[in-house]
Amino acid sequence: MKSVGKTFLLAGLVASTLGSAWAAEKLGYLVKQPEEPWFQTEWAFADKTGKALGVEIIKIAVPDGEKTLNAIDTLAASGAKGFVICTPDPKLGPAIVAKAKSHGLKVIAVDDQFVNAKGQPMTEVPLVMMAATKIGERQGNELWAEMKKRGWKPAETAALAITANELDTARRRTDGSMAALKKAGFPAAQIYTVPTKSNDIPGALDAANSMLVQHPNVKHWLVIGMNDNTVLGGVRATEGQGFKAENVIGIGINGVDAVNELSKSKPTGFYGSLLPSPDVHGSKTVQMLHAWVAKGVAPAKFTEVTDAVLITRANFKVELKKKGL
Ligand code: GLA
Repeated sequence: MKSVGKTFLLAGLVASTLGSAWAAEKLGYLVKQPEEPWFQTEWAFADKTGKALGVEIIKIAVPDGEKTLNAIDTLAASGAKGFVICTPDPKLGPAIVAKAKSHGLKVIAVDDQFVNAKGQPMTEVPLVMMAATKIGERQGNELWAEMKKRGWKPAETAALAITANELDTARRRTDGSMAALKKAGFPAAQIYTVPTKSNDIPGALDAANSMLVQHPNVKHWLVIGMNDNTVLGGVRATEGQGFKAENVIGIGINGVDAVNELSKSKPTGFYGSLLPSPDVHGSKTVQMLHAWVAKGVAPAKFTEVTDAVLITRANFKVELKKKGL
């Protein structure tokens, strides 16, 4: 028995010695909402890129500030040299940077930009994000195009914009969407904005409900929001208030979070979604961080990922496949 124990101990020692000698570079990838397929896709492509580079990606969910700061400690303790993060709150920026510095870790922000104590963007932290204004404008233009296609009269139509203005990328998307609608000719006075308390379906549903009841005479609704879940919440609210699918047009943003909805046997008011590139966010950030950590190549301070494709029930399978999603 004793010798067996010793053998195990020895095996353990050898394994750990070899392990540290061969230890791969480790990098963290922290995301605020791991339940969103958007972030799951970023993680999947971060992993894939990490494998190709011989880097181990440590993935941690950080739904709040406490978990975020703990995660950074955990990363440091496990020997990671840096991390990519979509912060649960942009205002955590200074705390995240301070904590990372205290451990000598490098940081790249993805999706959501940090803000400092004065509420200004922390442009000194490298950021990879989608072209927010542009994708918002696209949402507005696609809503207008679909409304025209259905022959809806502007006088009988209203737009419900569910906002999250404390998040800059969200504000730019919904602002862009409303601006494009107005530019196309949609009556500005019929665009109603309502803030959501949380960036998920229940939050958006509550927000939308409170606005819909104030406008009982509207026949057709357009639903604007910063991502798929926000628009889905809005569409669920229209259903709850008795609107048929054909009288509602919601177009989301993220694409990968709309797959369940677009797969439903019957169409809903959720017409489609703009699919950007979560795959590029996941792989590019890891490449950049690896180059920084391993070769001292500092990343660009700002990388904007452009181009989005409109996916609907008609084309979503093909379009997702094209991107390997
Ligand atoms: C924000 C949103 C996510 C996703 C990303 C894309 O973080 O909360 O749902 O849209 O932006 O950059």
